[in-house]
This record gives sequence, structure tokens and C-alpha cells, in this order.
Amino acid sequence: MSIRVKGLISFCEFTLLMVKRVPMNFKGSNILSIDQYERQDMVTIFSLAAFMECYAQRKKRTRVLEGALLGNIFFEPSTRTRVSFETAFYRLGGSVFNIADKTGTSMVKGESLEDTARVLGGYADVLVVRHPKEGSVKRCADVSSSPVINAGDGSGEHPTQALLDLYTIMKESGRSLDQIDGLSIAFVGDLKHGRTVHSLAKLLSLFKNIHFILISPNPLVMPQEIIQQLQSRGHTLEECRDLASGIGKADVIYMTRIQQERFSNPEDAERYRGCYCLNKGLYEKQVGSKNVPIMHPLPRDSRPGALEIDQDLDDHPNLAIFRQANNGVPVRMALFALVLDVADIFSRT
Ligand code: CP
Repeated sequence: MSIRVKGLISFCEFTLLMVKRVPMNFKGSNILSIDQYERQDMVTIFSLAAFMECYAQRKKRTRVLEGALLGNIFFEPSTRTRVSFETAFYRLGGSVFNIADKTGTSMVKGESLEDTARVLGGYADVLVVRHPKEGSVKRCADVSSSPVINAGDGSGEHPTQALLDLYTIMKESGRSLDQIDGLSIAFVGDLKHGRTVHSLAKLLSLFKNIHFILISPNPLVMPQEIIQQLQSRGHTLEECRDLASGIGKADVIYMTRIQQERFSNPEDAERYRGCYCLNKGLYEKQVGSKNVPIMHPLPRDSRPGALEIDQDLDDHPNLAIFRQANNGVPVRMALFALVLDVADIFSRT
């Protein structure tokens, strides 16, 4: 197990865990929403992800998924999610076919999403699907004979991003799962459309006494149903408009991009682009020398006038964004191993 994974359980505990607790709720299951998980599931996922790190970095090799096929179906642009899912599957010895654009499919001839998913689910052992419409990935799962993993459905959810985000918080801050209780996190930017913040807020709500600092322009606030879910689980929230005052109290800062593609009139997004820019001066003034990881699901908008995280922070040791992206591979390897029921093999290696 990687020694960089501070606070996670030891390899011996992991081995015992995998032998004693067969994770039945993963085998053959879809991954559609964080709502399907309990806190205890994070022990299973993250201990296996930590174990996968040496395979992700090719320090060890495995062919455990040799002969298995992943269908990577992306009806919306992606860099990290598509390629890290693909990398994860290859690192486990499997093979991948990709659909990266609807225009290359027979959907342009009128074929439905359901028929497409039913056919592709018959070819592959597991499908990863991204779609611009909320609920569309579930529609695929409802008809596919293979498990379906949600790689982002419109403004809905991005559950595997939330899992790698929490894994990153643990690694960057040296917290164990129990030490996530009491965490204070600032979510900044487009909280209305940002599916990664929706999923991460739901995931953190499985813990105790989380303080959510929600920093967004008034029209882009966190959806009410998610706020109600957080409150009903006993967490505290404060909403504010000002980045400087909001981040000073946070243990983690999670910046997001204005999601222009979700606006009915994309030009409206211009009003908000650049409204929150975290730079070195502001970070050092508000945070000082504390270890407060700066996170972002990426992509960050690097066009003039945007830049949620200024490039003057690129060499800052607390800028976690690229390590965060790298964590997508071991976490997604762990998810494939659980869904395709090969995780127990690693407890014997
Ligand atoms: N974080 C994320 O979803 O990035 P991509 O859109 O590049 O996949």
C-alpha cells in the first residue's frame, strides 16, 4: 500500500476487510448517484483505491480484467473522466472501446438513447456514460444488461468525481475517514449547475458535523433540495457572496468553473465568469501558513477574465488540482474491481 496514503487503514486490515466483508452492494451494480452509498462503503472503496496506487503507477502489474471490455460512451466533451476511466481499465488488463461524439453513432439516424445503450451494453462488460441531460445515464442503466457508471449527467451528479475528491481530501490533509467528521469546506463558483459539488456535498453529508461554506453569485446558488438534504442530516451551512471572507474559515477550498454549457443563453454566463478568482495573494492573506488544500474538479477556465485559480498558485504546495486528477485512476480502478467482482483477488496478492 502506498505510504502517501496517510490515515487510511493498513494493508492487513484491508485484507481482513475484503475477506470478511464481501462488498455485495457493488458487484454488478450501477454507479448512478452518491445517494446509493453509506459511509461504511468508503472504507471498501478507499482501502482498495490505496491498494491500486502501485498498479496505477505501473510499479506492479495485473491482468485481472484480461478479456473484459469497457464501453466508454461520452455524449459530452471530457478529458479527465474519459481518459482516466480508460486508463484504469487498461491498467487492470482490460480493453476499451470509445464513443466520444454522438454524431458518429446511429443516433443521428433516429436511434433512441435506450436502444443505443441496450446494444452497447450487450457488447461490453461495463458502460461508462456521460450525457448532457440530467437523468439520461439512469435511462441507459434501466435498459443495459451490463452495469452503467455515471460519468456526469447534465447538472445532476458526477459520483465518481466525488469519490476521488474525498480520497484527495484525505490524502492532502492527512485525515482518516473518521477525521472527515467536523470538516469545514468552501464550495466556490457555479453551485447551481456544478454536478461535482452536488455529488461531493452529498458524499460529505454521510459524515458528521460538516460545515459547508457556499460561495456563489445569487443566481447560481446550490439547489434547494441538496441544501435540505445537508440540513436534514444535521450539518451547518452558510451562504456568502464574498470569496475573501468565506475561505478564511475553510479546511478545504473547492473552486469550480462557471458552467457556460448549462445556461439556456450562454451569453448570460459572461456576467459571472471571473467573479471569483483565487490567487496567491488572497490565499496567503486569508489562509496563512495552514495546510488548506486548493481543489478544483477541472477543467479550469484559463481564458482571459476567467481563471478561477490564478496561475500564480501553480507551484504552491497546497494546490492539489493535478494530484486530484491523478487520483481518478486508482479510485476508478477500485470501482471497476468492485463492480466486476475481482476485488477479492487483490486481498490474496
Ligand atoms: N472533472 C471532469 O469531469 O473533467 P472532464 O470534463 O475533463 O472529464
